[in-house]
Amino acid sequence: MAVLITGGTGFVGSELAHILVNKDDDVVLFDVTPNYDRISDIHDKVKIAQGNLANWPEVFNVVRDYSIEGIYHLGGMLSVPSNTNPWASFQVNVVGMVNILEAARLLGISKVIFTSTLSTYGLDCSSVITDTTLQRPTTMYGCGKLYCESLGRFYRSKFGLDFRSVRFPSVIGPGVRTPGVAQWNAWMIEYPALGKPFECYVSEGTKCPVLYFKDAARSVDMIYHAPAEKIKTVNYNVAGVVPTRTAKEIEQIVNKYIPESHISYRPDPDVMNYFRTSTVDIFDDSKAREEWGWQAMYSDFDKVVLDFIEEIRDRPDNNGIV
Ligand SMILES: NC(=O)c1ccc[n+]([C@@H]2O[C@H](COP(=O)([O-])OP(=O)(O)OC[C@H]3O[C@@H](n4cnc5c(N)ncnc54)[C@H](O)[C@@H]3O)[C@@H](O)[C@H]2O)c1
Repeated sequence: MAVLITGGTGFVGSELAHILVNKDDDVVLFDVTPNYDRISDIHDKVKIAQGNLANWPEVFNVVRDYSIEGIYHLGGMLSVPSNTNPWASFQVNVVGMVNILEAARLLGISKVIFTSTLSTYGLDCSSVITDTTLQRPTTMYGCGKLYCESLGRFYRSKFGLDFRSVRFPSVIGPGVRTPGVAQWNAWMIEYPALGKPFECYVSEGTKCPVLYFKDAARSVDMIYHAPAEKIKTVNYNVAGVVPTRTAKEIEQIVNKYIPESHISYRPDPDVMNYFRTSTVDIFDDSKAREEWGWQAMYSDFDKVVLDFIEEIRDRPDNNGIV
């Protein structure tokens, strides 16, 4: 029996694929546009199925044809593309989720893990967000993800599917190219590590909670393997660096390890507009800690920066750095 990772050649999916391959799992990667660079060192140890989540027969076929026993559902459109094309986002993220849950139900798949987002919170959030903070998303991406979280919970109670999900803040790591409002957190490390200047498009005081990509992938693997009786909250916040660091604080940490780094600031008014209402200091993940023992390995920014620099040096191809 095999496990399926949708979005399996994406930023987090490919890191998860590495974790599972290292455990000798039989892994199938489903992706609409497979990125072979990110899996170049494991391509002979995984199977790749090209397909579109929005297309029901393609989802059904892959789950049936590869004898799938569990699904890590990471594929989909992220925040900026979802807002740019909300209609496509609905098909891929929402209909795609229905397709995954229905394939699981009809083919008797035991477990589905889903990756949701901090963007399911929105209106009137305080600087501390917990698992019980009211979720009132303001973006197409957040609205879709919140529906998917809730739909998974419904399939759990109605059909007995073992659905579980994690909610990520902004995931950072080398080679992030997916457009997003918070990628400056990653690029403030990546550009200096590559010897390039970086003009930051937010102000020095702007902050956005982040999770290192290795922790993101590890959390998905951990929640999959958590004993069923430990899963009570079902949809969990998963935090990385807490409290959230400002852009200026990140610059100072980067400077410690790359003294020749050159970071300047030219805030983009549209991005700043987004961050005016987003001031999260603490992304609280105590339920994941209490229930299935989650703890980020990269919980301080120094560790993130050091590993990030090593990744760029040692695995440039895998990280999509060319
Ligand atoms: N990166 C972040 O900051 C972040 C934050 C919160 C939640 N998440 C969630 O984590 C998951 C993984 O994100 P990521 O950072 O790896 O993103 P990514 O964009 O790198 O990966 C997503 C993958 O899904 C694939 N995909 C897109 N549309 C598809 C379709 N119609 N059919 C099949 N595959 C399709 C893409 O080709 C890509 O490989 C996503 O569900 C995302 O919403 C990410």
